[in-house]
Amino acid sequence: MDLGLSGKTAIVTGAGSGIGAAIARRFGHEGAHVVVSDINQESAAAVARDITDAGGSALGVAADVTDEAAVSAMVEQAVEAFGTVHILINNAGLARDGRITKMSESDWDLVVDTGLKGAFLCTRAVLPHMTDQKWGRIISMSSRAHNGNPGQANYSAVKAGLIGFTKAMALENGRNFITANAVAPGMIDTPFVRSHPAYEKIRDNAIKTTPIPRVGEAEDVADAVAFLASERASYITGDVLHVTGGRY
Ligand SMILES: NC(=O)c1ccc[n+]([C@@H]2O[C@H](COP(=O)([O-])OP(=O)(O)OC[C@H]3O[C@@H](n4cnc5c(N)ncnc54)[C@H](O)[C@@H]3O)[C@@H](O)[C@H]2O)c1
Repeated sequence: MDLGLSGKTAIVTGAGSGIGAAIARRFGHEGAHVVVSDINQESAAAVARDITDAGGSALGVAADVTDEAAVSAMVEQAVEAFGTVHILINNAGLARDGRITKMSESDWDLVVDTGLKGAFLCTRAVLPHMTDQKWGRIISMSSRAHNGNPGQANYSAVKAGLIGFTKAMALENGRNFITANAVAPGMIDTPFVRSHPAYEKIRDNAIKTTPIPRVGEAEDVADAVAFLASERASYITGDVLHVTGGRY
């Protein structure tokens, strides 16, 4: 299936690691111009280098998605290098777990600002380009946790909030042929989950309780994102695609 991604420009936030890096590599493989954006300059540059070494087109950009000026500069760099922006993947996110009564205000703010405000700032910065060209794809990384996870009130609020944000974006921008969708992964084997102190227990439990008995790989999510970003998904908007192996 030709996804029609060749020549399109895609910004992927949080693309220096895990799921974002797999999405960036997948876009590079499909012939897109990839803006590999991350708060960590070295990891963004390394993933961009992987893509160009493999014959693709990529630019590594250091940007904190919670910083409005950095987000504007990131979009300006993308437009300067590749002419416009067709695709935005709001992927940057992190967790600071704890029961609500033990959760600090700073842990709440960090998780909510990175996941939700970051998606808002990036979306606002790219929409004028998508509107002008009457074509755009915005995909935001939710999670199975949008249903609520104990110890993850901040993270669950972000992941549910991204779904509401996605539905509002879809309603506001459909007439300009801009689609907005969310992807909700289950447990995906990335540095993010591997750094959890109870990683092995969580992984074994996930395998036992998932209809497809394995943990997900970042590439499983990248495949779903590539489809939603493609020409083949032009009539799908305001939706949530779960990549959970059937575990809810
Ligand atoms: N791994 C999972 O099981 C899983 C499941 C569901 C959803 N997700 C979501 O997928 C996304 C990627 O997760 P991952 O597992 O690849 O994590 P990861 O930690 O491997 O990668 C996240 C990347 O985001 C970057 N980042 C953090 N704060 C940032 C900021 N302010 N600005 C720009 N970049 C920033 C980090 O530097 C890192 O490179 C996150 O939104 C996460 O919530 C992950």
